[in-house]
Amino acid sequence: MCGIMGYIGQQHTQEILTNGLKKLEYRGYDSVGVAIHDGEEVHVTKAEGRLDNLASRLQDAPLQGSIGIGHTRWATHGRPSDENSHPHTDDETEFAVVHNGIIENYIELKDELVAEGATFTSETDSEVIAHLLTKLYDGDVVSTIQKVVEKLDGAYALGVVSRHTPGKLYAVRQASPLIIGSGNGENFISSDIPAVLEHTRDVYILEDGEMAVLTEESISLMDVTTGKSISRDLFRVDWDMEQAEKNGFDHFMLKEIFEQPKALEKTMAGRVDKETNEVDFPELAWTEEQVAKWDKVHIVACGTAYHAGLLGKAAIEELTRTPVDVEVASEFRYRNPIVNENTLVIAVSQSGETADTLAALRQSKELGAKTLSITNVVGSSISREADNVILTLAGPEIAVASTKAYTTQVLSFYLLGIYLAQKKKQITPEQNAQYMAALQEVPEQMEEILFHNDEIKEYGESIKDAKSVFFLGRGIDTAVALEGSLKLKEISYIHSEAYAAGELKHGTLALIEEGTPIISLLTQEKLYDKMLGNIKEVSARGANVLGVTMRGNVKVTQYVDETCFIPETYSLFTPLLSVLPLQLISYYTSLALGNDVDKPRNLAKSVTVE
Ligand code: M6R
Repeated sequence: MCGIMGYIGQQHTQEILTNGLKKLEYRGYDSVGVAIHDGEEVHVTKAEGRLDNLASRLQDAPLQGSIGIGHTRWATHGRPSDENSHPHTDDETEFAVVHNGIIENYIELKDELVAEGATFTSETDSEVIAHLLTKLYDGDVVSTIQKVVEKLDGAYALGVVSRHTPGKLYAVRQASPLIIGSGNGENFISSDIPAVLEHTRDVYILEDGEMAVLTEESISLMDVTTGKSISRDLFRVDWDMEQAEKNGFDHFMLKEIFEQPKALEKTMAGRVDKETNEVDFPELAWTEEQVAKWDKVHIVACGTAYHAGLLGKAAIEELTRTPVDVEVASEFRYRNPIVNENTLVIAVSQSGETADTLAALRQSKELGAKTLSITNVVGSSISREADNVILTLAGPEIAVASTKAYTTQVLSFYLLGIYLAQKKKQITPEQNAQYMAALQEVPEQMEEILFHNDEIKEYGESIKDAKSVFFLGRGIDTAVALEGSLKLKEISYIHSEAYAAGELKHGTLALIEEGTPIISLLTQEKLYDKMLGNIKEVSARGANVLGVTMRGNVKVTQYVDETCFIPETYSLFTPLLSVLPLQLISYYTSLALGNDVDKPRNLAKSVTVE
């Protein structure tokens, strides 16, 4: 999704903006631009494509000044082009605006502005904001922004500079994330913390309906509708810049895959009572009566987080015998879901900003459900709006393809399942101790798999020319197959599908031909024989089968072409291990194809629009 960076201060504005935008590249983008106020006028430079294109234009004609805004655009309204890139301006460049989100009523606003003589140079919804600012300018930029915002429907994070105020930078947030970085004699705005972290660790997280006015020395927060001033404590970022850097790895994705053992340890720490070995979530502090009231759990999420939710269903149903529904948030929000005060709704989101998941959460609250979010970003909208939050402590995840966020979400579901079972008295202390011992072993078992990285690398490279790759599983392995398949398609661009293996013969088997790569998961002992039967079906049609299975399950080697062994654990917990080879396969396939692993085409890290 789009990224915003803004700066006011005495350092090299152009460089700060472009460096900040570089840190936001992970969000996905197709064009980029900056606007800088030189004290007299506002100058804009933009370019279709990557930041390098903008950098070479800025090298030929550098922009000077001490206030600026920059933007990485992920096209929604209008194709990627120089004209459609942000910042957008009015006819006289009195105002320059960067916008993240969608202005839903832009067509009627644009028609009105055009009828009054405004000349539009782009196809975007965002340009209306610049023209409205000029049209409604009343000598005071703050009150002008308030009047403009009143006219906008939809989602927007805005950065604004005005020719009329050479010492001020403005920011507004409505349903699209924006933070304000507080520095010494300089201040910043940005869509995300990593962009400002090399300058400051002190940030304000803007809430919906708030505006910030920045000078070099001050930051004022106010309610954008009433203008009433807001006082808020600064939020101190406690993670290191290093965590948002590649740290010697070629790509963020590979670094994040290798960070999983630590991420799991961190997510588990503080949630396990050292004496009793029971799971404790101090942040929930739910009572037995409360838990007993929920007769249904509903999990809502998108993409990889949805796949974690499928495993959440398996864990909660297995451990507590409470029925669980899992649904993609974009479907849930437009249904009439059966959710009420006896339902626990769990919204899962790495970024905590996914528009559909946020909408599903809000809808659930309106319906009276108790809401819990599982998110990785402190202060994100979903984490703030849910009644309770479980933070996955994976650290910043930069690669578009989610890896460590997924495994920490899955772990959180296991811990939550055990916690609920404890509250419902459905788990014995012995079972509890066994589960916890198994979970505590997982980080080390992950290290073992990562250590055998080279064999997986070879396999990943070997499938790079495949037309199509299939992932098969049964039971919870099917959920992992879905995740493996999503990972492969999003970064290798190879067509891939995941199937419950027993379903294959009902149609999809027709697609299997000589040499088709099949990645099959066999981690559920009670389903081994069934899986072997399905493997025979595809092998008989010439497929080339890789089996991912538990160490010791040598029988499988007679049925498959290649085997990837993973350490043994409880059958419920195997996804934490079996997904690792799949993540690595997609990484190495993408690498062999020469793709941009961390920033795959057409995709954004944080999907803040519908
Ligand atoms: O930030 P979220 O977890 O809410 O994001 C949801 C999906 O957009 C995300 O998981 C997406 O599917 C990833 N690119 C998958 O790797």
